[in-house]
Amino acid sequence: MVALIGKPTQPRLTLETAVIGQDTTAIRSLDWDRDRFDIEFALQNGTTYNSFLIRGEKVALVDTSHEKFRQLYLDALTGLIDPAAIDYLVISHTEPDHSGLVAEVLKLAPQAVVVGAKVAIQFLEGFVHQPFERQLVKSGDRLNLGNGHELEFVSAPNLHWPDTIFTYDHGTGILYTCDAFGMHYCDDCTYDESPDLLEADFRLYYDCLMGPNARSVLSAIKRLRQLPPIHLIATGHGPLLQHHREEWVNRYQAWSQDKAKAEKTVALFYMPEYGESDRFAQAIAAGIAKTEVVVELVDLRLVEPSEVRELVDIATGVVLGMPPQNRPSQVQAAISTILAAVHEKQVFGLFESGGGDDESVYPLRNRLQEAGLVEGFAPILIKETPTAATYQLCHEAGTDLGQLITRDRAIQQMKSLDHDLDKALGRLSGGLYIITAKKGEASSAMLASWVAQASLKPLGITIAVAKDRAIESFMHVGDRFVLNVLEEDNYQPLMKHFLKRFAPGADRFAGVKTYPASHGAPILADALAYLECEVVSRMETTDHWLVYSRVETGRVSKADALTAVHHRKVGNHY
Ligand code: FEO
Repeated sequence: MVALIGKPTQPRLTLETAVIGQDTTAIRSLDWDRDRFDIEFALQNGTTYNSFLIRGEKVALVDTSHEKFRQLYLDALTGLIDPAAIDYLVISHTEPDHSGLVAEVLKLAPQAVVVGAKVAIQFLEGFVHQPFERQLVKSGDRLNLGNGHELEFVSAPNLHWPDTIFTYDHGTGILYTCDAFGMHYCDDCTYDESPDLLEADFRLYYDCLMGPNARSVLSAIKRLRQLPPIHLIATGHGPLLQHHREEWVNRYQAWSQDKAKAEKTVALFYMPEYGESDRFAQAIAAGIAKTEVVVELVDLRLVEPSEVRELVDIATGVVLGMPPQNRPSQVQAAISTILAAVHEKQVFGLFESGGGDDESVYPLRNRLQEAGLVEGFAPILIKETPTAATYQLCHEAGTDLGQLITRDRAIQQMKSLDHDLDKALGRLSGGLYIITAKKGEASSAMLASWVAQASLKPLGITIAVAKDRAIESFMHVGDRFVLNVLEEDNYQPLMKHFLKRFAPGADRFAGVKTYPASHGAPILADALAYLECEVVSRMETTDHWLVYSRVETGRVSKADALTAVHHRKVGNHY
């Protein structure tokens, strides 16, 4: 049964309830127009926040919804059940898109016992301004609701917050995973009937939120494999995974195994619930993860000193989100241990968390430099409300740090290829182009030469973009960009400008003449021609994304001029 409650308004928020198993109802808050979580999520397809009601002899509600759905969600919930009958409120993790209405639900259901990981309950204490009953759970703990619904909890730290738990219902075989295996995708389909439509969003979501925690993903999957058969994966975002559930899990596993193979590790320490720390940490981690370096995200409040020592000892890089000056003693202990464990030549990066009470980064920066560590990116200082440009800066800073760590290996690889093969491959040539793109306040550009026409109807091109390039984040399915074609006799100034190494978040277009394309990306006034394109699909290779795009419109400025050609001597680098 599917019921639509509430009329679409601007922005369109609707609510769907659907019976998804014995005694089990999904309450899905559909956010049709949400277009952005941060720079990583230029959401083409909105998102959903999924909550679930399980009615055994006892009743459990798994997660709530985003605060923006207050009325719609509470109306739906009270339409389904008398809140006085809710016995348990299970908190998969405490990020506000799922727990934004916990306080409201507890006002209606003050008798409900809140079930969650220890740190989730601690966080809720500061967030819910009323006393509540609680039950702390960890992996293997069970809660019997009666009528066959026995819930088993599985710890899944870092998917996507350190307090994350999954819940498996032995009665229905439904696994509730909150962020994990989710996607930002909003439509009327409750389930994953059409994987082709979902694939790009599923991958983007993994790359942004789960990929940087690849080792945690593998640990969680190992625990899932020990559960009895899973008939449905009830995610917190997007459609529920029923038809292709094994395939989706296998994809997570394969992608994570690939990432976890990386030899180099960065330990990123932060306090998830302080300021914007979580979003900045995720953006930096996603930037690092583009460079074949594995990231360990570590919650400063939870980590044991011995674990800190071990992590810092093996890490090639250490990143620290500044905690508040007035911090808990365990956070202070963790920072002291980090400082005692760091060693010469490690790469480091510091960022403010934006809580308004951050400790200054500079004394720490001096100390790390004096200890012989190398700075991977300049301190990120948060002075204003973060925008897409702030997240872009964090993301690019992470990539810079990762590239610094992998630079020596990249140089070695360049030298190690067969010499004749190098020369032969170098005889392939391409034109010289500048890709330009803009999303909100964030923009980017890149010199490209691996460009080729790929279809006639519709007119389409492919561009190979290295996975660690900043522009890659602007070239996901549905994104639009401009391909500027450089002129044979006039390419040097533009090529020189865009070949420069830009600082994270720097304006690539300062001092360059541009005018806007229909979708806002800058067209370079001194280019010979331009094409406005929309990304249709992406194929993954080992180190590049092959991006296929439809060409929407274009123009040539000089009828007789020729395209600049990129002649190379060897084919093992650009
Ligand atoms: Fe969907 Fe981590 O919240």
